[in-house]
Amino acid sequence: MPGRLNQKVAIVTGIASGIGRGVAALFAREGARVVGVDLNVEGARLAAEEARQGGGSIDVQAPVDLLQEETVDMLMADVADRYGGIDVLVNAAAVAEFAWIQEMTRAQWQKTLSGELDIVFLCCRAIWPHLIKRGGGSIINFGSVAAYASTRMLPSLAHSAGKGGVKAMTLQLAMEGASHGIRANSISPGLIVSDATRAAFAANPGFKEEIERKVMLKRLGQPQDVAWAAVYLASEESSWVTGSDFVVDGGMRAW
Ligand SMILES: NC(=O)c1ccc[n+]([C@@H]2O[C@H](COP(=O)([O-])OP(=O)(O)OC[C@H]3O[C@@H](n4cnc5c(N)ncnc54)[C@H](O)[C@@H]3O)[C@@H](O)[C@H]2O)c1
Repeated sequence: MPGRLNQKVAIVTGIASGIGRGVAALFAREGARVVGVDLNVEGARLAAEEARQGGGSIDVQAPVDLLQEETVDMLMADVADRYGGIDVLVNAAAVAEFAWIQEMTRAQWQKTLSGELDIVFLCCRAIWPHLIKRGGGSIINFGSVAAYASTRMLPSLAHSAGKGGVKAMTLQLAMEGASHGIRANSISPGLIVSDATRAAFAANPGFKEEIERKVMLKRLGQPQDVAWAAVYLASEESSWVTGSDFVVDGGMRAW
């Protein structure tokens, strides 16, 4: 049976860890031709191995630094050339620093905004002409519940600003893309187990317990929990959906 993403060419960033890895594996299983990008070579290799075991395959591009403008432009041009076009971009790569306001340095603030906004901007801008040429496509950005509410025990000032930015810029992308058939949506996960969240648990005593108390569905999220939302947004099932943000958080934000 053909998968829900049969033959779609999808670029997924951040495949070496957590959400990007889960999305890439599920896209591959659903029949997409997945190009997976990351800075981390070993993590990306393991992601490809995991996808192979699940019956899919990922074309790994690593190491690629998505903060390098020319590198990103070349990546998109190369993929479009090799695959004859691109249909989907999933922006899961990001990097953030966490500190309470009085301890946060300007460098940490800027690193976070750059790691959460510049990567998305550069990838979207670079893929744009290829999506226009293709007659449209789907862009899926990762926001966060941090764009909606603060979380006790997590010093997420810069991260909240970055994710609020991702959510807002997705609306503008939707508007600019609509006449070209380009859809843009975001997914705002709650707590999903990944390298980043394991580090946040270790660095912030009480944070894990706070999240466990907040999640209605009584377990932490797994990458696959959000990957299904990304499959929907990448597929034709969502052909009338753009400029939306999908909160996938086990009910964390609802009480
Ligand atoms: N995990 C969560 O609970 C959660 C919650 C809300 C939002 N998010 C968002 O979802 C996305 C994925 O989250 P995650 O927890 O899986 O993150 P993660 O930190 O575990 O993985 C991010 C990946 O991006 C890669 N990366 C970072 N900078 C890069 C660069 N310059 N070039 C190429 N690759 C780069 C890293 O190597 C890493 O493999 C992020 O945007 C994150 O902010 C995650």
